[in-house]
Amino acid sequence: MSDLRPFEIDNSGIDPQTNFSANPEFSEVLAANLQRRSFLKGTLGTAVATVFGGGLLGCNSSTTPAPVPLPEAVLPAPVQTFLNFKAIATSRLDTVVVPEGYSARPFLPMGTPLTGSYPAYRIDGTNSGADMEQQVGAHHDGMHFFPLDARGEGKNSNEGLLVFNHEYIDANVLHQNGPTGLPRPTDEVRKEVAAHGVTVAHIKKDATGQFQLVQGSPLNRRITGATPMDIAGPARGHAKMVTKYSTDGTRTRGTLNNCGNGYTPWGTYLTAEENWAGYFMNSDVPQPREHKRYGVGTKNGRYYWETADSGADQYQRFNASTIATDADRDYRNEPNTFGWIVEIDPFNPDSVPQKRTALGRFGHEGVVFAPVVEGQPVVFYSGDDSTFEYIYKYVSKAPYFKATAGGHLLNEGTLYVARFNDDGSGEWLALDINSEHFRAKALAANVEFSSQADVLINTRLAADVVGATKMDRPEWGAVHPQTGEVYFTLTNNTSRTAAQINKANPRANNATGHIIRWRERTAANSFDWDIFLLAGDVGTATGDLKLTADNHLASPDGLAFDKNGLLWIQTDMSGSQQNSGPYGNNQMLVADPKTKQIKRFLVGPVDCEVTGISFTPDMKTMFVNIQHPGDRSTPTQFTSNWPSDDKTQRPRSGTVIVTKNDGGLIGS
Ligand code: FEO
Ligand code: CA
Ligand code: CA
Repeated sequence: MSDLRPFEIDNSGIDPQTNFSANPEFSEVLAANLQRRSFLKGTLGTAVATVFGGGLLGCNSSTTPAPVPLPEAVLPAPVQTFLNFKAIATSRLDTVVVPEGYSARPFLPMGTPLTGSYPAYRIDGTNSGADMEQQVGAHHDGMHFFPLDARGEGKNSNEGLLVFNHEYIDANVLHQNGPTGLPRPTDEVRKEVAAHGVTVAHIKKDATGQFQLVQGSPLNRRITGATPMDIAGPARGHAKMVTKYSTDGTRTRGTLNNCGNGYTPWGTYLTAEENWAGYFMNSDVPQPREHKRYGVGTKNGRYYWETADSGADQYQRFNASTIATDADRDYRNEPNTFGWIVEIDPFNPDSVPQKRTALGRFGHEGVVFAPVVEGQPVVFYSGDDSTFEYIYKYVSKAPYFKATAGGHLLNEGTLYVARFNDDGSGEWLALDINSEHFRAKALAANVEFSSQADVLINTRLAADVVGATKMDRPEWGAVHPQTGEVYFTLTNNTSRTAAQINKANPRANNATGHIIRWRERTAANSFDWDIFLLAGDVGTATGDLKLTADNHLASPDGLAFDKNGLLWIQTDMSGSQQNSGPYGNNQMLVADPKTKQIKRFLVGPVDCEVTGISFTPDMKTMFVNIQHPGDRSTPTQFTSNWPSDDKTQRPRSGTVIVTKNDGGLIGS
């Protein structure tokens, strides 16, 4: 224990920089652009200006290649009927504020009894680890409502499964007196592991039309940092996945730091493992590349779980150091079983979650699919949220057919990484060991990959090798339900210097972030992009869009399109940005991308993040998550009491149900 740092639990979101590669390779980008220009010049018109409403940044229309225009969007209702509410002001109140005519009701906060013996939530933090395994977890994040009637496309707006992530914990308020010290008491560790993962809650409207948890439903389920899971896809069974727990490298325990989410067209839930690396330690010098490039700690895990005083292997596995004399503690590969997208079938409480390794291993923020077309491959996009990391795209090998669609589509396919060229074009670069281009780039970089599994376990390194564009922390993506345009939040990056700016990441010391978007070309593996929104204070302009007091914002993070084509934007400003800036508490705005009208719709309580969003099919109920209210609290002084008004109560993350008082559509 002597080499441990003084006991100090990190209570922040962790987004470390581990990318010190020299991307992009400027000379090569330049050469590629010159070639493309001469090839395309005069063959395609200037449609790109119309496609993106003239807002393209730094584009010269006479030389910019044009995309093949997609069919005109057919929206289910005229967009003009939306955004009629009065934008709300910024707020520093310890409550959820919504526009006049709307209501917000807290729902399923951390500690809500969910399964088994339904242990009651204790307001003093004295629930045990065993209790927590049967209660709603902490730090609600990504979320999806599955109507109960039909997988993926149900119409039931009265009953369904609300599935949501638990990203991390606040040990100060989780335990009665905060964390006790080192070594960690095992039950505290058990409780913390159990507070992570995913909740599946069967919910149903009562006689008054209010959603309630269905007590005793066999569909209620907690998945935690200890739940057995399968390794699926190319990395299944690879030597680097072998642990004492799974000597054939096919299984692991738990999912961690589940940030954003996704869902599939076939009605399953996807949870993204984001800052999982911080939970592990490896004191080996040097660390293997599959740990170092992801920021695995050298001295201790984030919450020191590896020190649990029982010495149980369930917790010792968080120490991935080589312990040559103790074969029983060989968890050198344990961190390799994290960093994946995990597929969960919420309709089958006995299903084993599947880690889908074909989608790559990185700090997955979330994952979003493009509209599916019968007989075409299924496409998923995912961002790697750390400083200077990348945006990825997965394309299944097999085509999508509604009748047979399922998890197998996530086991075999091609993973690409994005390069954003300064002329408004972009390329998808395959991370495929069978691609000649990829092998040549790896050879040139003097990097060896032994198999596609090795490429995927080292996804970040593979992306470095091909010269992907380093982004300002890619968070959530959203795909327009009709046009297929893809939007991604780039939350902020204060490490970017003036020498490191490019057109896709155009601001040095980018404290407020931006939203980028692109449209795929029909030509293979290329796209056209522009900046949709530069976030910032009143007056910040993106083309002819100028932010006002109705919509100024910073650090966009959560992002989703609803089926009416409205874009919902959630913010995750740090505590200091909330307290020193003009933006108030974290918030949610809604944009009509066609008119570029943007209005502030919801502001969260003190010290929270607003994240996670879903709707009932009738678009009359919206679910939003409030994460870590009062995250500067000590075990005795709470900076928020949400969702309670009682000043003595510790804050709890929770969901909020938003409805319109006249029963109208959300966003109207
Ligand atoms: Fe967990 Fe990148 O936010
Ligand atoms: Ca996030
Ligand atoms: Ca964030």
